[in-house]
This record gives sequence, C-alpha cells and structure tokens, in this order.
Amino acid sequence: MEFLTNVVVLLHLLGLAAIVGSALFVARGVPTPALVWGARAQILTGLLLVGLNQAGDDEVNNTKIGVKLLIALAVAACAEIAAAKERKGQGNPQLVTAAGVLAVVNAAVAVLWT
Ligand code: HEM
Repeated sequence: MEFLTNVVVLLHLLGLAAIVGSALFVARGVPTPALVWGARAQILTGLLLVGLNQAGDDEVNNTKIGVKLLIALAVAACAEIAAAKERKGQGNPQLVTAAGVLAVVNAAVAVLWT
C-alpha cells in the first residue's frame, strides 16, 4: 500500500512539473497537451492520494484538501478554456500563465500548510 501511495505521489509531482514547466518555462502562453493533461492528472492523482491516505489510516486535513481541490479545478478550467480558445485561433496567454501560477500556489499550499 505504501509503495502504491509513493507511486501516486510521484505521478502527482510529475503532473505539477508538466503544468509549471510548460506554462511558465518551456511554452509560455501556449496551452500544450502537457499543460492540459497535467491539470487533469492533478485532480485524479490528488483524489487517489486522499483515498489511499484514508485507507492507510493517515490523517487527512479536509479543509486543506478542499482548498487544493478548488485551486486544482481553477487550474484545469484555465487550461481547458485556453486550449479551446487556441483551437478557435483565439490565443489567450494570460489563462495559461494563470494556470501555471495557480499550480505553484497549490504546491505552496501542499507543502507550507502543516
Ligand atoms: C494543480 C494541482 C495540484 C498541485 C500543484 C499539487 C501539489 C502537491 C505537492 C507539491 C504535494 C507534496 C508532495 C509531498 O509531500 O511529497 C502534494 C501532496 C498531496 N496532494 Fe496535491 N496538488 C494538486 C492537486 C491536488 C488535489 C486536487 C488533491 C485532492 C483533492 C490533492 C491531494 C494531495 C494529497 C492528499 C497530498 C499528500 C500526499 C502524501 O504525502 O501522501 N492535490 N500535492
């Protein structure tokens, strides 16, 4: 169980890297598949981690998780809307930057809210 949890934490960190790397460093302003799929993956792997932690009798801070879920939904919304606009030829770099910045905020919430 612990190994499985650690694998999902790894995927969670790779999702963070995909979002922040793409939006803020590699493809600034462009809604890449890495950004969109990273944002989707964070919601899935995050919810899986909540389930695995509860199954393993680890404490889960529901307020913190609620805040993280809201921020992650905002990240995914920014990424999906930016990608949809891009397909219509209406680029929106601010939405991409917002997704990247919100992902950094969520990482800060994860690590600093103890
Ligand atoms: C953009 C979205 C997200 C980002 C950037 C993010 C980032 C992080 C980071 C950096 C960690 C620390 C990993 C560690 O302590 O080694 C973490 C842990 C965690 N995250 Fe997220 N997260 C996101 C979304 C979510 C969501 C939506 C949920 C659940 C609804 C969630 C649930 C968790 C849980 C339960 C842990 C603790 C894992 C453990 O140590 O067992 N995360 N997250």
